[in-house]
Amino acid sequence: MVDKTKKVKDIQDKFKIIGRTDELKKIILAHSVGKNILIEGEVGVGKTTLANAVSSYFDSKFYRIDCAEETLTHNLIGYFDPPLVIAKGYIEDSYLYGPLASAMMNGGCLFINEINRMPESTQNVLLTALDEKFLEIPKLKLIRADENFFVIATLNPSAHVGVTVLGEALKDRFIWIKLDYQTPDEEIKIIKQEVDFDSQDERIPKIAQEIIQITRNNTSIRRGSSIRGAIDMAALMTQYEKTNSTKNWVDAAIMALYNKIELEDGINKSKVELITDIVLAVLNKSDFQ
Ligand SMILES: Nc1ncnc2c1ncn2[C@@H]1O[C@H](COP(=O)(O)OP(=O)(O)O)[C@@H](O)[C@H]1O
Ligand SMILES: [Mg+2]
Repeated sequence: MVDKTKKVKDIQDKFKIIGRTDELKKIILAHSVGKNILIEGEVGVGKTTLANAVSSYFDSKFYRIDCAEETLTHNLIGYFDPPLVIAKGYIEDSYLYGPLASAMMNGGCLFINEINRMPESTQNVLLTALDEKFLEIPKLKLIRADENFFVIATLNPSAHVGVTVLGEALKDRFIWIKLDYQTPDEEIKIIKQEVDFDSQDERIPKIAQEIIQITRNNTSIRRGSSIRGAIDMAALMTQYEKTNSTKNWVDAAIMALYNKIELEDGINKSKVELITDIVLAVLNKSDFQ
């Protein structure tokens, strides 16, 4: 048995992670039995932050790849560098190893950020590596994975742009950990950690959190704001002289949230109107007067 409580505390302290005690325990548990981990959640719930923290905590040899539609197999495996090949031929010295090959050889952790953006052909390479524990590099060698090699990946299931659906076969190779929105108190702590506040500005993180919270529950809004909306809004508010001005709050909220929320179809209010209504409702509550 591993002492999970101490490890969780270590990770929280070292990487300034607020809360997520349960999720970190689950990750440590999965890792202690040698499983690959898939962290799933909406934009801004802290997937990258958590995956980055645990992969560097577990392993000093950690290799990161951020996926895009253009992420091809050579970005994972590596490639022969043409000038070196001309000078030296197809030998190991001419080969630049990618993160997958490096993690397999060195028994490290491969951190795949936004695996849902990885094209299917690239996913297939990963599948063989996870299943068969080897990787063939044509004209060079067959890499057998060190027994400590493992993968942590993040997945945003509802990102629609530039996304290939993660194949069932690949999903089948991971232990699944879901991140939901954190509690208001934890989100307020995150906002305070991300934005420089003077002591007199105690209300700002609270109001900003409450505004984004409402965007998530409003029936006219299909996708509410992540914590980033509150962080941006709070940062903007610290730059106004009057932090109790309704106009300043409305302006900051529109700037921060406009592109972070998505309306349902057939709503007869504009985004600006909706955001304004939400800000006014929050500011009019008696505890903010
Ligand atoms: N539990 C947490 N503790 C501290 N900061 C957090 C936490 N969750 C999210 N954040 C902060 O919120 C922002 C969004 O997190 P991020 O990991 O980039 O989200 P995602 O990858 O899910 O889109 C970052 O600035 C991050 O530092
Ligand atoms: Mg991310």
